[in-house]
Amino acid sequence: MRAAEIQDDLSEILVTEEQIREKLDELAARVAADYAGKDLLLVGVLKGAFVVMADFARALPMHAPIDFMAVSSYGASTKSSGVVQIRKDLDTDLHGKHVLIVEDIIDSGLTLSWLLENFESRGAESIEVLALLRKPEAAKVHIDCKYVGFDIPTEFVVGYGLDYAERYRNLRDVAVLAPHVYS
Ligand code: PRP
Repeated sequence: MRAAEIQDDLSEILVTEEQIREKLDELAARVAADYAGKDLLLVGVLKGAFVVMADFARALPMHAPIDFMAVSSYGASTKSSGVVQIRKDLDTDLHGKHVLIVEDIIDSGLTLSWLLENFESRGAESIEVLALLRKPEAAKVHIDCKYVGFDIPTEFVVGYGLDYAERYRNLRDVAVLAPHVYS
C-alpha cells in the first residue's frame, strides 16, 4: 500500500521507501563486514519486524539463518516494568551463535531490555541490535543499539511493519498517523 492511497489517514511521511532501502543497504554492508567468518543468526521480533527482516536479510551479502520470536507485554500495568510474555519462542539454540536482533522500532526500550537479558541467559556468543527506527525522547531504559536506521520524534508512526489496531503494517513508507484516525 502506498501513502498516496491513504493520504487522508496520514499527517506526514517521515521516512520514504527509498530512504529505507538505501539505509538498509548501508547497514547490511556494515553488518557483513562486522560478522565476516562468524556464525550469524538474525532474530526478528514479531509482528512489527517482519518487513524490515525481509528487506534487511535480502540486502545482506552473506549467509544468515533467520528466526523469529513473538512477545507481548502482560498488560498496561506491567508494560512499564518491562515484563513481557513469550508468545512464540525461537526454534534455534543460541549457544555459540552471534545473534543480531532485528527490530522495527525502539520506543521505551523495555521490550529489548527484557529480550537482551533473556538471550544472554541462553548462552549466545554475542548479541547486538539493529533497529530501523528509534525514538530517543521516549526512552525509559538505555539500549545499546549498534545499528540504527533513523532517529525519529515521539509521534504515532505507522507503516513498514508498524500498526495501529493491526492496520497500516503494509504501508510502504513510515508515516505519522493523522490524529483523527485514533481520537
Ligand atoms: C513494538 C515494536 C517493538 C516494541 C518497541 O511492538 O515492534 O517490539 O513495540 O516498544 P518498546 O521499546 O516501548 O518496548 P508491539 O508491542 O507494538 O507489537 P507488534 O510488533 O506485534 O506490533
